[in-house]
Order: sequence, then C-alpha cells, then structure tokens
Amino acid sequence: MKKKTLKIGLVGCGGMGRYHLDCHYRHEPRVELAAFCDILPERANGYADEYAPGAARFADYRELLKDPSIDAVDICTPNYLHSEIAIAAFKAGKHVFCEKPDAIDAKKAAAMRDAAAKAGKVLMVMRNNRFTDAAKYLKRFVADGRAGDIYAGRCGWQRRRGIPGKGGWFTTKAQSGGGPLIDLGVHMIDLAVWLMGSPRPVAVSGQTFRKFAEGSDVSDSEHSKFGDAVKGGTFDVEDLAMGFIRFENGAVLQIEFSWASNVEKERRFVELLGTKAGFAIDGSQMKIFTEENGELLDVVPPGVQKDDGHARNLRNFVDVVLDGAEPCYKPQQGVDMIAILEGFYKSARLGREVRL
Ligand SMILES: NC(=O)c1ccc[n+]([C@@H]2O[C@H](COP(=O)([O-])OP(=O)(O)OC[C@H]3O[C@@H](n4cnc5c(N)ncnc54)[C@H](O)[C@@H]3O)[C@@H](O)[C@H]2O)c1
Repeated sequence: MKKKTLKIGLVGCGGMGRYHLDCHYRHEPRVELAAFCDILPERANGYADEYAPGAARFADYRELLKDPSIDAVDICTPNYLHSEIAIAAFKAGKHVFCEKPDAIDAKKAAAMRDAAAKAGKVLMVMRNNRFTDAAKYLKRFVADGRAGDIYAGRCGWQRRRGIPGKGGWFTTKAQSGGGPLIDLGVHMIDLAVWLMGSPRPVAVSGQTFRKFAEGSDVSDSEHSKFGDAVKGGTFDVEDLAMGFIRFENGAVLQIEFSWASNVEKERRFVELLGTKAGFAIDGSQMKIFTEENGELLDVVPPGVQKDDGHARNLRNFVDVVLDGAEPCYKPQQGVDMIAILEGFYKSARLGREVRL
C-alpha cells in the first residue's frame, strides 16, 4: 500500500534546519517530524520541544539512522558533512534531502549520487532558486523556444557586507569547501545553467580574493545571518570570486560572487542572452527583453512574484518520495555543479583556464 506519511529525521538544528521547519514542515500534513539530531544536544532538544515534543533526540546521526521507522533524513549541517551523512543514510535505507552545496568536492558529490542509486533511494539537494515564480516562468519560456538560442549570460550574488558566521565553519575551507563561490555560486550558477538547458561545462577560468578577513564585522545583508561567528576563528576562504565558464555548445557565462565588496548594494541575479529574447532575474523579480514588429519590447509581470522556493523544493521532495513525482533535481547535475566550482578554485590557484 502506498505510504501516506513521511517520517523525517532532521540532522543539523541550526539556522537552516529551523528554516526548513518554519517554511515547510510545520505546514506539511504528510510529514511526521520523527527525530532531531545535533552535536549540540540543547539544539536537538530545543527544536524537538518546540516543533514535535514526541520526537526522538540524538547527538550522533549514526544513532538516528538505526531507527528503521525513519524514512528520510534532511541534512542541514555544515557542508563537509553532507556527503558523509548522506552516504550513511543511503546505507541505512533512507531517502535524503540535503542542503546546498551537494558536497565540498566533485568526488564526494559523485559518491552521494552512486550511493543513492545503489540503495534505490531518492537524493535531492536544495535548489530553491529553481522554484520561484520567475524561474518557473522562464524555464517554460526557454523550453517553448521563445528566447531562441541562449548563447551567453552573467550571474552573480554580490554583497556589500554579509559574511556568514565569520571565523566559524562558513569561513573555514576544510568545513565549507570555500567562500561565496560555493556558498552563493551554487545557487545562481545552478539557476543560470538550468535555464540554459543544462549544457555541459567544459572549461572554467577565475580568480579569488580575500580582502575582508580582518576588519569590521558590519553587515547590510539580511541573507548573511547564518552560522555562528567565532571571534579570532579561521578565515581561509575567498570573499570574492570572479570568473568565466565555457560550455560544450559554445555558450559562456560570466560569474561574480562576494560576501563583501565595495558595491552599492546586495544583488543576486541571472541575465541570459538569447537570439530571440534576453531576460533578467533580479532577486525574485524578472524582466524579458525582446523585439516585436520592429519595436523593442520589455515584458514585466505585474505585482510581487513569490519567492518561497525553499518550501516548494521541500514539497517537491515529499511529492517525489510519496507520490513518485518528477524530481526537480538530478544527482548528476550536482556533480557537474561541484565540478565547476572545483575547477574554478583550481584555475584561481594556477592562474589559468582549467578544462573540466
Ligand atoms: N538554501 C539556502 O538558502 C541556505 C541558506 C543558508 C545555509 N544553507 C546551508 O544549510 C547548511 C546549514 O547551514 P546553517 O546556516 O544552518 O549552519 P548552522 O551553523 O546554523 O547550523 C549547522 C548545525 O549543524 C550542527 N552540526 C554540526 N556538526 C554536526 C554533526 N556531526 N551532526 C549533527 N549536527 C551537526 C551544528 O551544531 C549546527 O547546529 C549549510 O550546508 C549551508 O550551506 C542553505
């Protein structure tokens, strides 16, 4: 008989764990919050008390995985643990939803993909930006051929000041895998490449900078309030990454990601150029630029567009596991994405373009 309820164990009860609970699980009748896990027991206990007092609490995810009644885990830990926990979860026969980035290197992302396939379980990694109204509309617009051939574009997430958890795991390469390129790049590069029709990346060239490791801790970014800051902690990742990606079909993408840079204000965007139309996503808003009957024409949908991508992405995971819905994400796309980022860091180290 088809299962009606998904019993989920949340691993990592920090900022994003809470966001998953608030934006979706607390409103989702098909999900039972069965267990909470955090190496800090007060966090697992605190979340359980608040969201599901009957749920089990763990300090070690391996103990949580031993519970055969748990169907799926949602991984909201620091990046370096994503692959380890996901692979252990597949071995224990669970489905996995994981926060971005998929993993801190492409080999680990591939190991997650393979473990999911071997277990015959669902692996989905957060791609919340694919689920906004603007992204969904534009995906159809491109698929209908209305943009023509997309041959070039730009994407980025520039912050004036907004370093998450300075001195903590976010700014420690061994735990995060990198700075804004892996933290923010995974969002907007993914969105751009997905809208381009997922062409195969073949080469990357880029440079990274670390200019704000010391100095003021001011922030003007509402999106940077993640992770715990540690005074005097490690900061061995970049705060700006700027570069260029080439695809097999000849298309190119310029990219720029910063946690801190002297720009006017924070901006997250994708701009793609097609032979029939171009378009821009700026935050949750979008515009289409085209020509009709010899006139230049801008298309701007009225009103505020919805930006609850996280909730919709989590709902898609539940739909996939319970109802066999089409997943918005294929694990190979995650491997390709992390390979771009890894190639970028290598290019920055070597000072030249890197073939993927
Ligand atoms: N999709 C998005 O928009 C978005 C936004 C922010 C963060 N994230 C991602 O979410 C993940 C978590 O980020 P965050 O901001 O919540 O960080 P956080 O530091 O606030 O939370 C991480 C939690 O994991 C716990 N933890 C550490 N090691 C653990 C272990 N071995 N077992 C169990 N728990 C462990 C920590 O104690 C902490 O409570 C990261 O991968 C980050 O990239 C995604």
